[in-house]
Amino acid sequence: MDNFATRANAKTVPITAIARKDYKRWLGGQSKPTQAWLKATEFSPEAGHVALVPNRDGGLGRVLLGLGSELSNTMIWVCSVLPGKLPQGRYAFEDELDPGSAEAAALGWALATYQFSRYRKQAPEQFPTLVWPAQADRAAVERARNATFLVRDLINTPAADLGPAELAEQALAIAAEHEAEAQVIVGEELLDANYPAIYAVGKGSPREPRLFDMRWGDEDAPKLTLVGKGVVFDTGGLDIKTSGNMKLMKKDMGGAAMMLALAQMIMAAGLPVRLRLLLPIVENSVSGEAYRPLDVLDTRKGLTVEVGNTDAEGRLILCDALHEADTENPDLLIDFATLTGAARVALGTDLPALFSTDDEVAQAILAAGEQVDDPLWRMPLFRAYRRGLDSKVADLNNISSSPFGGAIAAALFLQEFVGKQTKWVHVDTMGWNLGARPGRPIGGEAMGVRAVFRMLEQRYPVA
Ligand code: BES
Ligand code: MN
Ligand code: ZN
Repeated sequence: MDNFATRANAKTVPITAIARKDYKRWLGGQSKPTQAWLKATEFSPEAGHVALVPNRDGGLGRVLLGLGSELSNTMIWVCSVLPGKLPQGRYAFEDELDPGSAEAAALGWALATYQFSRYRKQAPEQFPTLVWPAQADRAAVERARNATFLVRDLINTPAADLGPAELAEQALAIAAEHEAEAQVIVGEELLDANYPAIYAVGKGSPREPRLFDMRWGDEDAPKLTLVGKGVVFDTGGLDIKTSGNMKLMKKDMGGAAMMLALAQMIMAAGLPVRLRLLLPIVENSVSGEAYRPLDVLDTRKGLTVEVGNTDAEGRLILCDALHEADTENPDLLIDFATLTGAARVALGTDLPALFSTDDEVAQAILAAGEQVDDPLWRMPLFRAYRRGLDSKVADLNNISSSPFGGAIAAALFLQEFVGKQTKWVHVDTMGWNLGARPGRPIGGEAMGVRAVFRMLEQRYPVA
């Protein structure tokens, strides 16, 4: 990890992290010039406020970081203001932080150093260095940082340079690093292997569709299966999107990126699970070969699906992967997808929608999300809306007859391919920061991944 040092040196500048309630007393113990400086510069200890305090020689004597109300789970984004605001140099937190805060602080610092520089000749920005906060679990921070950077890089890479082949290639590389078994089923092989819906959605692109399938870990450990939507670009297909709606659609492989990153975290941490990762990867294109509205597709499960809209492609590729996952009776089945605009209408762009057949698992993820400042919000698998998916010609339509409740309709479609007994979690996530905040630049973003990892760590503790 860049921008960290193991120990302080003579030039290390202390960072005083201070909560609102402690500020007055702390200020009383400071020198007159320091008090005068903080007053003159109108410092207040609100979360993320920073003061650069001079020493007697007019050099930088200390950094003051406001914590606001001192909730440790906001430490990530509070500390991520620092790398962008501090001059080059070495810094260290003055007081010992508790392990949770230390981990959050280090992660916030790390996440703030992300830059997507692949296409820029300009030298990347240089950031200051933080002396590693002693209580922070370095491996944990590194895992979360690497997962986040991987997701950001994959989403930010334009579809021209990240087609189905390139995305599968990156997944294979990560599998190899962790000595996992992996294979990729490509193009017409999908038909022989009985993944007809993945093939149908992807056949409109000259860049062939594929299914990445990876297994890792002890065969006797509980089975955990992850599935991610890997649409490298979503034009909408023949039901083509408007330019405004199409613009961000290089991010439509965000679910696959997030599940790949989560798998990487699980393998790096050595969680005692039998992991399977299934990534259906396609490009949803417009062409003479493209699937059409009112085509009837076969699916792996045998259910036929009438295509009400070629832009509801994610659920079609996911349904084959989910059914395959389900046949193994996993202990837990999790899918992530940038599935619907409706989920963003319901919850906004920063709050992934979580659906689950299991209340305990759902609660555990929501609670974990609060612990690690990676929130999700639960939405219902409301059965009464299922009939919106009825079709007159096939077993199921891929869109609802109702224009309302679109995120729920999509989730109910997926549920048709998951067995009743299966503990299943579906996350409909944005995968993109529309605005820039400290530690979270505009562009690709992992949303809900750290929360799910925290839940998994608790469910499958390392012995
Ligand atoms: N990838 C989109 C969903 C999406 C859009 C996610 C914007 C995040 C932001 C998905 O494939 C899609 O196009 N969904 C349609 C479904 C509709 C045709 C039923 C949508 O949301 O409009
Ligand atoms: Mn679409
Ligand atoms: Zn899509």
